[in-house]
Amino acid sequence: MSKNETIVAIDGPSGAGKGTVARALAHELGYRHVDTGAMYRAVAWQATHNGVDLADESAVATVAQSVVLTLDGDRIVVNDYDVTEAIRTPETDVASALVARLSAVRQVLIGQQRAIGETGRVVMEGRDIGTVVFPGAAVKIFLDAAPAERARRRAADRAHTSSRSADLVGVASALEARDASDRTREVSPLKLALDAELIDTTGMPIDDVVKRVLSLVRFKLDTSVSKDER
Ligand code: DC
Repeated sequence: MSKNETIVAIDGPSGAGKGTVARALAHELGYRHVDTGAMYRAVAWQATHNGVDLADESAVATVAQSVVLTLDGDRIVVNDYDVTEAIRTPETDVASALVARLSAVRQVLIGQQRAIGETGRVVMEGRDIGTVVFPGAAVKIFLDAAPAERARRRAADRAHTSSRSADLVGVASALEARDASDRTREVSPLKLALDAELIDTTGMPIDDVVKRVLSLVRFKLDTSVSKDER
């Protein structure tokens, strides 16, 4: 099998359930789970920490090039410093959406994401995995949900909740602003790949979403294996 035939791309907006679904899928399939949003967050965190102006594209790209990002299961380490919790604040939500708009930063991170996928057997989640990072991925899933439901899920997500962000109205408006930025930016905007399966998870318990995606992915992976054997 070629490496593309064991790459599962999960894209969609914040709060659509990508993280839970991608983690469960990777566990069930014995694949590696890669959260590319955490990479944009880690670069944003380091740039802010260094006092870099987030509008300065080349300075932020230099940060992206110089940091060593280690993705170890659900932990993310930047130059030996574990930032797993530090990158889930409302400030990093905003900062990561800003750095994700910068083409030079995306080039660096996309290169790293492709290198991680080189060996295959990866479930990679993000915004542009099926459209840009791995357009030849065997399976592309686009998870979506109504904005109110995504805000509710995000507010209930302990990893993302701080005293300032826990109120639903605040979460909803921050989510809306970030989504608008992700969908309208010039480089790699969030959009549905033509060959992606769109799943609207509104009103679906997350366990049901996982079951549905898992059976779809198993079917598609089996189909590409048997195509290979023909
Ligand atoms: O998934 P997340 O909320 O942790 O992502 C953080 C930011 O990075 C968000 O603004 C979307 C952006 N992002 C992106 O542009 N491309 C990706 N592949 C992953 C995330």
